[in-house]
Amino acid sequence: MTTKALRMTDQSLAGKRVLIRVDFNVPVKNGRVTSEARILAALPTIRLALQRGAAVILLSHLGRPAEGQFDPDLSLRPVANRLAELLGQSVPLLRDWLQGFEIADGEVVLCENVRFNTGEKKNSPALARQMARLCDIFVMDAFGTAHRAEASTHGVVKYAPVACAGPLLMAELEALERVLRKPARPVVAIVGGSKVSTKLKVLKSLARQVDQLIVGGGIANTFIAAAGYAVGKSLYEKERLDAARRLAGKGFRASIPLPTDVVVAKALSPKAAASTRSVGKVGPNDLILDIGPRTAELYARLIARAGTIIWNGPVGVFEIDKFGRGTKRVAQAVAQATTRGKAFSVAGGGDTLAALEKYGLTDQLSYVSTGGGAFLEFLDGTLLPAVAILTQRAAQRARTRK
Ligand code: 3PG
Repeated sequence: MTTKALRMTDQSLAGKRVLIRVDFNVPVKNGRVTSEARILAALPTIRLALQRGAAVILLSHLGRPAEGQFDPDLSLRPVANRLAELLGQSVPLLRDWLQGFEIADGEVVLCENVRFNTGEKKNSPALARQMARLCDIFVMDAFGTAHRAEASTHGVVKYAPVACAGPLLMAELEALERVLRKPARPVVAIVGGSKVSTKLKVLKSLARQVDQLIVGGGIANTFIAAAGYAVGKSLYEKERLDAARRLAGKGFRASIPLPTDVVVAKALSPKAAASTRSVGKVGPNDLILDIGPRTAELYARLIARAGTIIWNGPVGVFEIDKFGRGTKRVAQAVAQATTRGKAFSVAGGGDTLAALEKYGLTDQLSYVSTGGGAFLEFLDGTLLPAVAILTQRAAQRARTRK
């Protein structure tokens, strides 16, 4: 059972003011949205609410502005423009919305960046109450921000007349629960990224649950160094060598296959010459920037046999093609295991999504999460605060109705 929270799909929405917290924290460049995956993921929820006759009020943050002031660089204007195109109807962007506004059934408005309001980050009850007054029903659908206890993700749930989980939030929770509870084995997790320290909790949690844990990027360098090999000038964490040794030891379920070869260069630059070296032959001035071809094939074989695959983080600097072959091979292997094999695959995190987009493989995975931090926190076993409060609210409601 995913969560006992009320669901938007079970509510009667006709003629109601439905306040939906979405995650439109998307990359914007020169006034345009450059990756619209999160907007596309929110569309079915918005369309469903409109079809059911609701007046739809959308809330989101963008970036991390200073509270209490308007910042044109972090305005949701580019999102409102794109959303209007996608929905085929106008989406007014409301600059001053906390005191209330007119809206008719079938209309959609987007409230300006919720983090411009003082008290959003600190989950101010006064601010949460003001938000709750705007609606008949509050819908939490921002899985990507469900790990934050803020006024628009957490506090508002306490005060809204009805608070429920949206379809996207439910779909995310169901997909992630499927990979953690009774998954088809073997389970292969791929965790890339620059530092062991920032992902230590999720690495430990996955090492306890999965069968093979493939590490990439700076994290892999720390494991290579922990196994006693030179890593030259590569990014690695000296103070995490013991943690890496423990994770690779017998106390955990997962085996952590180390790269046997790596791609190195003297600089992190598209102009630098790339060469392949066996692990153990990395020179003092080398930077490890990707896994080598032998390692990529080894990982691809492990992935091909998997029943379940969890992926967060590229295994090399895939933004530069000559250091991206390992990530490309891993992405292809995950896609093939899903489409040709029987694996259930889930990927999350901005870089992973960018890699899947780059190689045109996004549609071939079983589930692509909109969460970055939330995805990792769910995997490390944290009860996401926004989900916890929705569940509490539903339990209270059930008690008062008895
Ligand atoms: C994300 O992009 O991970 C979410 O939108 C949360 O953003 P935050 O890390 O600024 O809270």
